[in-house]
Amino acid sequence: MVEAKIAPSMLSSDFANLASEAERMVSFGADWLHMDIMLIIVCSHFVPNLTIGAPVIESLRKHTKAYLDCHLMVTNPLDYVDQFGKAGASGFTFHVEVSKDNWLELVTRIKSKGMRPGVALKPGTPVEEVYPLVEGENPVEMVLVMTMEPGFGGQKFMPDMMDKVRKLREKYPKLDIEVDGGLGPSTIDVAAAVGANCIVAGSSVFGAPEPAQVISLLRTSVDKANK
Ligand code: DX5
Ligand code: ZN
Repeated sequence: MVEAKIAPSMLSSDFANLASEAERMVSFGADWLHMDIMLIIVCSHFVPNLTIGAPVIESLRKHTKAYLDCHLMVTNPLDYVDQFGKAGASGFTFHVEVSKDNWLELVTRIKSKGMRPGVALKPGTPVEEVYPLVEGENPVEMVLVMTMEPGFGGQKFMPDMMDKVRKLREKYPKLDIEVDGGLGPSTIDVAAAVGANCIVAGSSVFGAPEPAQVISLLRTSVDKANK
């Protein structure tokens, strides 16, 4: 059986008060803190937004022991493994679209730096593309299914992506499967029903009058579906 991991996306937090926002989320029952790392490279840009980098992870690490679930939306993840490892990242999730040629090297390097490797896929990417990374001798430990186009929080959840989650859960009963994009009280049940257990939620948690209630509702839905 897989465990529910509720991961508020710090992209929706008040960046000027990151340490206290992190503490607040942990006190509200968050299991992980989801950190979105985005970067534009001239010529081949991945997402149209810039967020945080290793120095911010390093600063935040001084204030929290929480699991920092880092989602790297960058074109060259290998260049960031060492610095994120050193900064204190816990999970390092890279995108399959930019790692076709070097995922094995990436996974090995991520593990050697003491982080948990994960692979993410954008809505347009077929789920079959991550199978080799889950089945290899040196497998990733999580698959992140994007349920909206990466770039910004607060977009609409894409229910079509649930087929990917269902297929992954059927094939891999013990795998951590994370969903990211538009998750909240109105969408959690469909995601939990098909087998998602790690739930990223930005605007639905930070925008709620009582974030603790939303975190608890997300967890209850995953736990119920898991029974
Ligand atoms: C966007 C990020 C998400 C985002 C989710 O590219 O990967 O983690 O913060 O935000 P919500 O939950 O508001 O859709
Ligand atoms: Zn994310």
